[in-house]
Amino acid sequence: MTEFSSKDAKACPVHFDHHTVDHTKQWPETYRKLREECPRAWTDNYDGFWVATRLSDIVGVAQQSDAFSAHKEVDFENGTSTGGVTIPPAGTTRGIPNEADNPEWEGIRRFINRRFAPRAIEERRAKAKQFTAALVDMVIETGECDFVDDLTSALPALVTMEIFGFPLDEWRKFADPFHTMVFTPIHDPAFAETVRGLDYFRERVDEEIAKRRIEPKDDFLTLLATGEINGEPLTWQQIRDLSFNILAGGVDTTTALASNALIWLGRNPGERQRLIDDPDLMPFACEEFIRFYSPIGALSRTAIKDTEVDGWTIRKGERVLMAYAGGNRDPEAFEDPEQVKIDRFPNKHVGFGAGMHRCLGSFLARMMFQEMIGEVLRRLPDYTIDEDGLRQYPSISGVNGWISIPAHFTPGAKVGAVIE
Ligand code: HEM
Repeated sequence: MTEFSSKDAKACPVHFDHHTVDHTKQWPETYRKLREECPRAWTDNYDGFWVATRLSDIVGVAQQSDAFSAHKEVDFENGTSTGGVTIPPAGTTRGIPNEADNPEWEGIRRFINRRFAPRAIEERRAKAKQFTAALVDMVIETGECDFVDDLTSALPALVTMEIFGFPLDEWRKFADPFHTMVFTPIHDPAFAETVRGLDYFRERVDEEIAKRRIEPKDDFLTLLATGEINGEPLTWQQIRDLSFNILAGGVDTTTALASNALIWLGRNPGERQRLIDDPDLMPFACEEFIRFYSPIGALSRTAIKDTEVDGWTIRKGERVLMAYAGGNRDPEAFEDPEQVKIDRFPNKHVGFGAGMHRCLGSFLARMMFQEMIGEVLRRLPDYTIDEDGLRQYPSISGVNGWISIPAHFTPGAKVGAVIE
């Protein structure tokens, strides 16, 4: 096995920038080449970082949380930050638990885990079903829709608003700035403006938390307002950082997953019919779409000591990008990795990450995906995608998603579902 560290990284230097439009167009090819020729690549971009594209290396980094930090240090005065899970670190917005190390991480996860555990999520399924039916009702008589606008963006946002306890009719004001921030390339002068778009969400979090302290309800905002971590009430900053992480996780990733799946099923009518005929395939199809499209393509860690991962030395202070999307197409781990197999099993992908930061919302994401895709296949089974109208995110460095997916179908009847 080739051994190299950044000192002799010239053995494998690459020009790699996951924020570019080129990367959006070519990521499967880029990661395939890196995995084959340079699986532990070094790039000088963004102050230098490693790019790991083999599944076993990604898991090796993700599982060593005592050696690789996700913690983000924010300097509010200067508006800068270091560390965290993005390269480069994005401004002053910090998401917790994602950008926290132990012991902070453990306290937060213990505080919220139960709310996102399988049982709690199953209890939310009926509401998600009702919302999905109502969203389809809004378009079914017209014979056309935009899957993103009308369904895949709306449903995760509505369910997330319901979990928090925010008024449902504000969903767009919450979700839109998150989508825009995620797809605007970090080099774009508009990026700073999109981050400022999150001010609305911050103000509303502050307002609703103040209300819950006076009048508690049975919702997540009340837990944040009145709960304790290690015997201490949460600070305003903790509440904002936690809300940011869960809203960002809730409103964009599942949107991207369902959007990609709808495009693929639109292009593969035979496989779509197979899923209609055998709905028991849905959980397997869900995992396969997560693997194949990797809604979160890559996240990073910083080594806090010299560390070795299977013969690869990473020096203290060096950053590593774990290219989940690359690992998910690693032929060492998956047969025919460039093929979608809706019945693939086993499917040990890293689409939800690995190690202690593995996704908090995986059960929620799966449930929402199943409800959205299931409803479309039942009520709009002959839909066709308007390929010319497809608009992909210009930058997929955050999330591999779509801005617009216009579609046509045979009009049908409403079922009378409502969003409330
Ligand atoms: C298909 C949908 C989703 C995908 C692909 C996805 C992917 C991921 C990935 C890759 C990580 C690992 C982060 C890391 O390695 O640093 C993660 C963590 C996380 N996700 Fe998700 N996610 C999804 C849905 C959700 C939803 C619906 C929520 C809402 C609750 C959510 C909340 C979180 C949180 C809070 C973390 C941080 C966990 C921690 O650090 O302990 N995610 N997710």
